[in-house]
Amino acid sequence: MCGIIGCVGREDETLDVLVHGLSKLEYRGYDSAGVALTGDRLGICKQAGEIEALREALEARTLSGSAGIGHTRWSTHGPPTDENAHPHQDCSGDVAVVHNGIIENYQQLRDGLVSAGHHFGSDTDTEVVPHLVEDELAAGADPETAVRRAVARLEGSYAIAVVVAGSDAVYAARNDSPLVLGVGDGTGAAEDADAPGTGEGDGDAAADGQAYYLASDVPAFRDFTDRVVYLDDGEFAVLSAEGCRVTDVDGNTVDKPVDTVDWDPEETGKSGYDHFMLKEIHEQPRAIRQCLRGRVDEMTASVDIGDLGDLSPTGVQFVACGTSYHAALYGAQLLREAGIPAQTFLASEYATSPPPIGDALVVGVTQSGETADTLSALREAAKRGARTLAVTNTVGSTAARECDHALYIRAGPEIGVAASKTFASQLTALNLFALGTTRTGDTRDVIAALRELPSDVQQILDDSAAEAIAETYVDADGYFFIGRGLQFPVALEGALKMKEITYKHAEGFAAGELKHGPLALVTSETPVFAVVTGDDEMATKTVGNVKEVEARDAPVVAVTDGQSTVERYADHVLDVPETHPRAAAVLANVQLQLVSYHVADKLGRSIDKPRNLAKSVTVE
Ligand code: AGP
Ligand code: GLU
Repeated sequence: MCGIIGCVGREDETLDVLVHGLSKLEYRGYDSAGVALTGDRLGICKQAGEIEALREALEARTLSGSAGIGHTRWSTHGPPTDENAHPHQDCSGDVAVVHNGIIENYQQLRDGLVSAGHHFGSDTDTEVVPHLVEDELAAGADPETAVRRAVARLEGSYAIAVVVAGSDAVYAARNDSPLVLGVGDGTGAAEDADAPGTGEGDGDAAADGQAYYLASDVPAFRDFTDRVVYLDDGEFAVLSAEGCRVTDVDGNTVDKPVDTVDWDPEETGKSGYDHFMLKEIHEQPRAIRQCLRGRVDEMTASVDIGDLGDLSPTGVQFVACGTSYHAALYGAQLLREAGIPAQTFLASEYATSPPPIGDALVVGVTQSGETADTLSALREAAKRGARTLAVTNTVGSTAARECDHALYIRAGPEIGVAASKTFASQLTALNLFALGTTRTGDTRDVIAALRELPSDVQQILDDSAAEAIAETYVDADGYFFIGRGLQFPVALEGALKMKEITYKHAEGFAAGELKHGPLALVTSETPVFAVVTGDDEMATKTVGNVKEVEARDAPVVAVTDGQSTVERYADHVLDVPETHPRAAAVLANVQLQLVSYHVADKLGRSIDKPRNLAKSVTVE
């Protein structure tokens, strides 16, 4: 999920290119970093923590080679330790591998390799790869064939780069995880005079300044070349002094177009998006897919969340803050629908008047896993004998370490201070939690809707009318958001996002509450965003509330799948595809994220770093 860099170039430059590339990938967030270089021998240096720490560690080492790979890790399997940092090696130390993504069948592969005598030094899924390559090499395969055969045994998502001692090449493969090649022939060399790898060389591996790069994102090598080749799923690449060759799964050469990127190197950290938040909003289809990966089986309509499936809670108390609190409100409803008593508490209020715990499971929803209020509530619950579970994005975080159990949402790092993709992933993970622990009701429809979610979100991202609506209402006095049932937390989240990034007044209400007071605030200058999906009794009641605001001249923006009559009373419509109500909440939220983003953008706000706010709030 984080960053890969690879390079075949001049022996005196490759290491610098790798470290420079890693620093350019820092914006993606990471918890560990490492590099491996190969020439006659393979050398490796890796550790948990910042790239600066890796730089210092490298000063005490002599690594050399014309081919190398580097990695920034965002842990999914095993905490961020030196041992779990990439590259990973085989038993002989002749193979080094970096990987982004999740290998779904790693346990099965690892069991087989261990019983065949392989020794593992990490907790990662990745480490199966070098051992598989080692077996193929031992059986007489050449490095390319060995890597190709190893990759053929993997299931899941991966961008992989491999170096092998004695071979001056980098081997790479991708499936559902990005990888792009860079062709450095000097023509696109960077304006950055200090950047390594751009000089004309009389060099060894790469004659005449030729160098080839590989990365999970263009910024990693954009300082050296603007000529890129985007790898597609199932493709395999070999970068060597002879050039760069791309083949399909069967080994046939694929003629790939060489594109020229015209981004300014300074801008590329956001992959062409103006803000990290917008990039992260657009990453939601992938984030949801990662969350579901290997955990749902549509054929059997079942969910596999490992040991967590055995938790069988008889009662659940959620503790969380901000956006995560809204996700928790949603999660509690799912459990109640399955007949499990579930309550949600603002983490900062939990300890002030602790509820009776009984044998409840206490679930902390926290993307960072470091929010002081949430940690304190979880500690209070543990002190009183509760079992605890962290639903978090961050492997190795304090919440993940201190709780009895952890469920990872796998959204990948989120840089924007305002939570966007992590909310979608939290809702997805909470569905898995509810389905996996309660096993009640008809799961088939929900699972099918979850599987469709990534493409439904993509449809919204492609077609949303949010920007035009933002333009219409950018000068409004304030904004209201209403919804019922599962759409109530979405209304709250819509308002929080609007406040955070636009600095304008916004409130979210349960649709039925509006008439109990807030209606006094509704005027022709206050647009009301009404989230109404489905056509059940709840939707009909919300339509009634919409009529109330329409009668007070408030502009109404309906976020709807078109099943109810709400459009009749709305001035504008933000469409969501028709789906299960649980998935509809995720979709409606994407529309509201886009509205807030565009209002903030038109107001020229500091979207990625709103004033007074921090990404991780580590004080109570
Ligand atoms: C949301 O946009 C904010 N960044 C904030 O409300 C956040 O959700 C809250 O501070 C909780 O953070 P956590 O999920 O890391 O615990
Ligand atoms: N699944 C691998 C790990 O946990 C790779 C994580 C990543 O994409 O950085 O180490």
